[in-house]
Amino acid sequence: MKSVIELNGVSKIYKNKTAVDQLSLQVEEGSVLALIGPNGAGKTTTVKMMLGLTKPTSGHVKVFGQHPYEKSVRERLGAMLQETSVIDLMKTGEIIDLFRSYYKAPLSMKQLLAMSGLEECENKLATSLSGGQKRRLSFALALAGDPHLIFLDEPTVGMDVSSREVFWRTVSALRDQGRTIVLTTHYMDEVEAIADRVVIVNNGKSIADGTVQEIKSTTEKNSVSFTLTDQVSSEVLNSLPGVDQVNRNGNKVELFGADTDLLIFTIVRHNIPLKDLQINKSNLEDALQLLISAS
Ligand SMILES: Nc1ncnc2c1ncn2[C@@H]1O[C@H](COP(=O)(O)OP(=O)(O)O)[C@@H](O)[C@H]1O
Ligand SMILES: [Mg+2]
Repeated sequence: MKSVIELNGVSKIYKNKTAVDQLSLQVEEGSVLALIGPNGAGKTTTVKMMLGLTKPTSGHVKVFGQHPYEKSVRERLGAMLQETSVIDLMKTGEIIDLFRSYYKAPLSMKQLLAMSGLEECENKLATSLSGGQKRRLSFALALAGDPHLIFLDEPTVGMDVSSREVFWRTVSALRDQGRTIVLTTHYMDEVEAIADRVVIVNNGKSIADGTVQEIKSTTEKNSVSFTLTDQVSSEVLNSLPGVDQVNRNGNKVELFGADTDLLIFTIVRHNIPLKDLQINKSNLEDALQLLISAS
């Protein structure tokens, strides 16, 4: 697979603050990378260096094999940044047209309004849009040049449920067309739904890098729990295939193992007498908190 972005030992130091600390990572063409981590971790700074908006203090950033501030690179990027200000006294459609004029082969107005869900807002003054609609406008502007590489920095903050749905549907469609996407978000359900790969950043460093599944499995919190309806010894429970650990309190049992399907198969196969069976899957939020506190 071809790398679209390469970061090699990249650091960014502001006066007395190391915002990004020796970060190295590659983003493959056509993949969705989610950068996650607490506020102040260095996600936005990393995105800005990928965009060529901020220069690294040390290390190298390459986008499409070139420096990100080259014009030929910039023409293929689109970005939705955290802070966006809308231009006073211009209508939504006028702002979109202005951005379209920056590119050689922009998407049509109709396409951009549909992709961002702003069909009803073309003639509204941008300042009159709701917070969520302003985020959608920012999305439309990011897509104006039909970019191959798209950056989305906390894109859904301020969007309501239906805006989010339109937004992620469009992002999925872009992914299906082979676009490369880098996003940051605090919503782990969004990461689980869309990311091919997750990099967890804390204090400017990468502390975990893998698929959602790989990151979740590091916490080993998958289990099935149930209540025994007859006597079963702890030895028997411990020896069941796929069981890594048994927690037991009288007839209340929790079996831990990486694969909950296998755990269910095992307890059925061995005719364990039980009721109130429950599957407990580790979630990404748990994994994130655990990895951050361990780093
Ligand atoms: N222009 C700047 N000048 C000084 N410090 C900055 C600047 N931009 C970001 N920082 C600091 O760098 C750290 C990382 O910030 P940022 O990349 O915005 O984190 P995140 O996006 O993960 O919340 C924070 O401590 C922040 O205060
Ligand atoms: Mg940020």
